[in-house]
Amino acid sequence: MTDQYEHKAKDWDEVPWKMELAEETFKAICSRVDIPPDAHLVDLGGGTGLLTLNFLNNVSQITVVDTSQAMLAVLREKIKAYQLTNVEIVEEALSTGTIPPASCDVIISMLTLHHVDYIADLFQEFHTALVPGGKIALVDLVTEDGDFHPADAQYVHDGFDPQILEALLESTGFENIDIDLFSSVTREMDAGGTKAFPLFLISAEKG
Ligand SMILES: C[S@@+](CC[C@H](N)C(=O)[O-])C[C@H]1O[C@@H](n2cnc3c(N)ncnc32)[C@H](O)[C@@H]1O
Repeated sequence: MTDQYEHKAKDWDEVPWKMELAEETFKAICSRVDIPPDAHLVDLGGGTGLLTLNFLNNVSQITVVDTSQAMLAVLREKIKAYQLTNVEIVEEALSTGTIPPASCDVIISMLTLHHVDYIADLFQEFHTALVPGGKIALVDLVTEDGDFHPADAQYVHDGFDPQILEALLESTGFENIDIDLFSSVTREMDAGGTKAFPLFLISAEKG
């Protein structure tokens, strides 16, 4: 399978809106989710670590699960350059067994859910992987009309209705579900002008 991030990964962290969003998402998660300092945090689709590495001083262990060799190569360079000993990489699509049962405290994700075609199973895997009382904090696009991605991009969902995800999380066994339309990404359109794409942060706790 081709890596659609092969030519994007190197400059991923230099795109201003991505840098700003990572910073904003980090602050939004920290203000809404209580993360103990000894937490094991998992980032689904953590890519280059743009969001994840903000948590270095907030948790004791980080695992980035991602399918893109190119994105992870950038993260591997950072791990080497900064001699990070508490960041582990798992290069695969998250599925059963990727994260051992009841082994992590927090699962985060930014702009990855819309690439995943097995959302119900994914939420079940999250539930299994978390310790009792473990938390999720997931950021993605609110339902959009397909303009967010360039024509050649591979993705599965044109964003999500957060209420539908809420119902799915509830039926998976999550509690204290909170939805916050906390930000938006403004992008220039090929046809001219700009367009804002609202983003949600959905947080919940394993019941
Ligand atoms: C749009 S990028 C976002 C990267 C990063 N979260 C950020 O915001 O900078 C989506 C990432 O999710 C990864 N990805 C897509 N499907 C995945 C899956 N099923 N399991 C793990 N990673 C996945 C891709 O390889 C890519 O790195």
